[in-house]
Amino acid sequence: MYGSDKVPDDSERTAFRRAEKQYKLYYESNSKKKKQPKHVDLSDVLDFKNILESSNNNGEIPPGIVALSSNFGLPVFRLENRPGFYFIPEALSIEEQCRWIKESLISFPQPPNRTNHNAFYGRIHDLFSAAKERKFLESSKDDDDDTKEWKLVEEDQRNYDVSLAHNKIPDALCELAKRMASPAMPNGEEFKPEAAIVNYFGLGDTLGGHLDDMEKDWSRPIVSMSLGCKAIFLLGGKSREDPPLAMFLRSGDVVLMAGEARECYHGVPRIFTDKENADISHLELQFSQEEDCCFLEYIQTSRININIRQVF
Ligand code: OGA
Ligand code: MN
Repeated sequence: MYGSDKVPDDSERTAFRRAEKQYKLYYESNSKKKKQPKHVDLSDVLDFKNILESSNNNGEIPPGIVALSSNFGLPVFRLENRPGFYFIPEALSIEEQCRWIKESLISFPQPPNRTNHNAFYGRIHDLFSAAKERKFLESSKDDDDDTKEWKLVEEDQRNYDVSLAHNKIPDALCELAKRMASPAMPNGEEFKPEAAIVNYFGLGDTLGGHLDDMEKDWSRPIVSMSLGCKAIFLLGGKSREDPPLAMFLRSGDVVLMAGEARECYHGVPRIFTDKENADISHLELQFSQEEDCCFLEYIQTSRININIRQVF
């Protein structure tokens, strides 16, 4: 899935890499002042929020984009030149967004689910409550129980190993994924959610261009949900030389990648945590109660991506 890009040194020169660099966070080099992000021209970034608005207002949508209706009542857009790619703007209600943000922070990282931290720290219980108490982690490599887990992750196996202990995907998340996947499913078949990956992004974090190629049947969609701060998503072509299309992903947006789109390079070069770009005021309102301040604090500088896959 990730980090397997066998591209030699001149990878900087592919069209995909150039686009990543164009949108990535860089800071101005004047050292005296507080770190100042370099200005980025966002005028070429496709914005499905505007497209949805204009589609709702007067039915007008830009050339190359096709509007479909879905069986769940929301407009779905697809791209003429990227068959198998679907964009469902504002697919999740505010309540759903908050629910899955909370679950992503509290329950999804709980053992036996594995996280990227396991390689260094072994099993970590109650990560979010520890973070709330400003606790820091120390490596526990001598712990017998943890060593086993540690080895498995360190090898960075790129496969799905069902023999590894894991928690079930919550039923509500499966139902949500099935519903969202339907526009990309062949003739009324039902999507089977079999694996879920959760990506956590802070400011400056990126997900490099990649293909998700470990699933057996590429006709089945990957259902990808965005939560928290707005991001830029790059959808390339089958070669890294194909110039990618840049689009915004906001909290509540869902993207489907099926069929030919499964062969397209994609990645996330940027998230925005500043007030005018993050687009999370609805979440700030929803998390404004005292008891939710930890979620508010987290999500104001973070993005979470949950992607659900049919593997077998
Ligand atoms: C992935 C992926 C996209 C995103 O995890 O494979 O492509 O929006 N994520 O974070
Ligand atoms: Mn991917």
